[in-house]
Amino acid sequence: MRDLKADMKVELKDFSEDYADILADIIMDAYQDFPEYGEPNIKKAKKYINWLKNHSTFFKILFVDGEPAGFIVADANWKSLDGEKVGEIHELAIRKKYWGKGLGKLLLESALEHLKSQGVKVYGLWVGTKNRTAIEFYKKYGFKPVYNYVKWLRMEKRE
Ligand SMILES: CC(C)(COP(=O)(O)OP(=O)(O)OC[C@H]1O[C@@H](n2cnc3c(N)ncnc32)[C@H](O)[C@@H]1OP(=O)(O)O)[C@@H](O)C(=O)NCCC(=O)NCCS
Repeated sequence: MRDLKADMKVELKDFSEDYADILADIIMDAYQDFPEYGEPNIKKAKKYINWLKNHSTFFKILFVDGEPAGFIVADANWKSLDGEKVGEIHELAIRKKYWGKGLGKLLLESALEHLKSQGVKVYGLWVGTKNRTAIEFYKKYGFKPVYNYVKWLRMEKRE
């Protein structure tokens, strides 16, 4: 695993409404290679950010050298399609120019730690079936493909 660069100042901050526009922009940037898994426009992206706000127990924004670079949203009180209680990673998005620097790992690990502290034993998420970057990334942290639904792949990790 690449280490975070020593000269990179990394901070995590809680979500606040002040960041809603910036986060919508990060969604549009992060999904530029796979627009079918992102949002069609900035207006829809803002609605999605609002949905995330209302379905989260953990919503952290990552700043690199003072600039918002990505975010993660997790929910300790989710239920999977088959009704099992799971800790859900609803979103993880990083601006493309920041990929490959260990920042996704940092965000995912912080969310998994939160979910674990809430008693979660099963972690789940949906990822686009053609989004190899993200699928390989999640596999690295113990997520396994469990089933497909339309254009989405369900991945889960068990304690
Ligand atoms: C998926 C995403 C969050 C990964 O973030 P990242 O900051 O680039 O990931 P990291 O640098 O922390 O990578 C951690 C490890 O994941 C693996 N990984 C990351 N990208 C990979 C790729 N393209 N192929 C294979 N493995 C990859 C690597 O093994 C890496 O470890 P290494 O440094 O030893 O090579 C980022 O690409 C992203 O925001 N994508 C767009 C949005 C998205 O798809 N979100 C997930 C949808 S649910």
